[in-house]
Amino acid sequence: MRSSAPLYDSLAPAYEEHFAVPHRRAYDDLAWEICTAALPTPPAEVMDVGCGVGRWAERLRDAGYVVTGVEPAPGMAERAARRLGQRESDRFSLLRQRVEDVELRPGSVDAVVAMGSLQYTEDPLHQVARMAGWLRPGGVLAVLVDSLHALVLELVAAGRLDEALLRMSTRRGVWTLDGVDADLHLLDVATLRAACADAGLEVVRVAGLLVGATAHGRDGLRRRLESDYAGTLDVERRLAAEPGLADAGKQLLIVGRRPAR
Ligand SMILES: C[S@@+](CC[C@H](N)C(=O)[O-])C[C@H]1O[C@@H](n2cnc3c(N)ncnc32)[C@H](O)[C@@H]1O
Repeated sequence: MRSSAPLYDSLAPAYEEHFAVPHRRAYDDLAWEICTAALPTPPAEVMDVGCGVGRWAERLRDAGYVVTGVEPAPGMAERAARRLGQRESDRFSLLRQRVEDVELRPGSVDAVVAMGSLQYTEDPLHQVARMAGWLRPGGVLAVLVDSLHALVLELVAAGRLDEALLRMSTRRGVWTLDGVDADLHLLDVATLRAACADAGLEVVRVAGLLVGATAHGRDGLRRRLESDYAGTLDVERRLAAEPGLADAGKQLLIVGRRPAR
């Protein structure tokens, strides 16, 4: 696997604008709604794995949570540290490392959110098990990844059949930005459900975010969002509520809970 750190370092200065485009804003808004509805109430302790520049960490802290960010790309981590500060009173601390290297006592946090980071780890299923192990009874793990099936269908629609079949069989993708490549795992609902079950979590929510990108194409969804953001988001909210459509979402969100003792 080629590390995503160089790519995210080069993206760090413009990361906020990167997320301001309607389709990213839309899946982020939906993910936030679903995750915050599932999280234990503040002041619970939340690990934000792959916290990037601290977008969610800041919102979680402002909502009253005690947040630990984990971020290996130095440029992203530096921005998160500047944005949130690192004093005790800030209710934020930052681990500048990969989730693979984090040592945490089992059963020591109330929630782990990993928005867009799991797919870049060496062994995502092993990381699901590790993150699940950090949870106290009743604790929540929420993971957002790119969807394997949505990507394959997008490639088929673009006439890139060989690449579509390659992605399907290898379950690996490559994200290239300004000539820098990052490898990623491509995951689906069945794989993530099995990982949660193996880790002793009960799955409380599975949602496909931006099913409209698969139905209308990315540009078709973008046009809809640009002309009526709230209305289009409402359609996506209804589609995300149907777990049978989850693999069709451009992004796939799964929420698991460690059973209370
Ligand atoms: C799609 S970005 C999302 C950032 C942030 N969660 C957000 O929503 O703004 C993925 C992040 O995961 C981080 N990441 C990549 N590999 C990681 C790993 N092995 N452990 C933890 N974070 C990782 C990247 O550096 C990047 O900041």
